[in-house]
Amino acid sequence: MKKIEISTSAIVYKDISELSAEDNLLMKKAIEARKKAYAPYSKFYVGAALLLENGEIIEGNNQESAAYPSGMCAERVAIWKASSTYPNVKIIKLAISASSTIAKVNTPIGPCGACRQTLSEYEINQKAPFKVLFMGEVGEIVKTSSLLSLLPFSFDSSYL
Ligand code: THU
Repeated sequence: MKKIEISTSAIVYKDISELSAEDNLLMKKAIEARKKAYAPYSKFYVGAALLLENGEIIEGNNQESAAYPSGMCAERVAIWKASSTYPNVKIIKLAISASSTIAKVNTPIGPCGACRQTLSEYEINQKAPFKVLFMGEVGEIVKTSSLLSLLPFSFDSSYL
């Protein structure tokens, strides 16, 4: 038997004003996207913005439906929009912001497990990590150096 330890690290910024100009712009795009989310059922609004290697910024937000499971997270809307518009163009960074009309979201909100799994496909395929930044509506921002750092013991196509 052996014990292994897997650790991860992230940088935490106190608010959006501490970010670099590029990160700040990308987070603002995620915030703009969040404001256009369609989330009348959960009242939890998420925006995502991807910076691609070709300089394009692709935005997405969560889309819900009255049949609750038939909705989609902001991150997957954004990644599929990016991949279907610019297939094989590398992702440099992803920024995410979340808010709610039920309570103020003042802690960083990371992508859900299904989004991490979906996003990992693209990071693995492009053979280069992309940075992930996430926040609530206000307050701290977490920045990780890769998507896979958010997904230890992940599943990938090599197992198939
Ligand atoms: N949601 C996202 O857009 N991204 C996540 O990573 C977590 C959850 C959305 C899905 C649903 O519309 C609402 O937030 C509440 O779960």
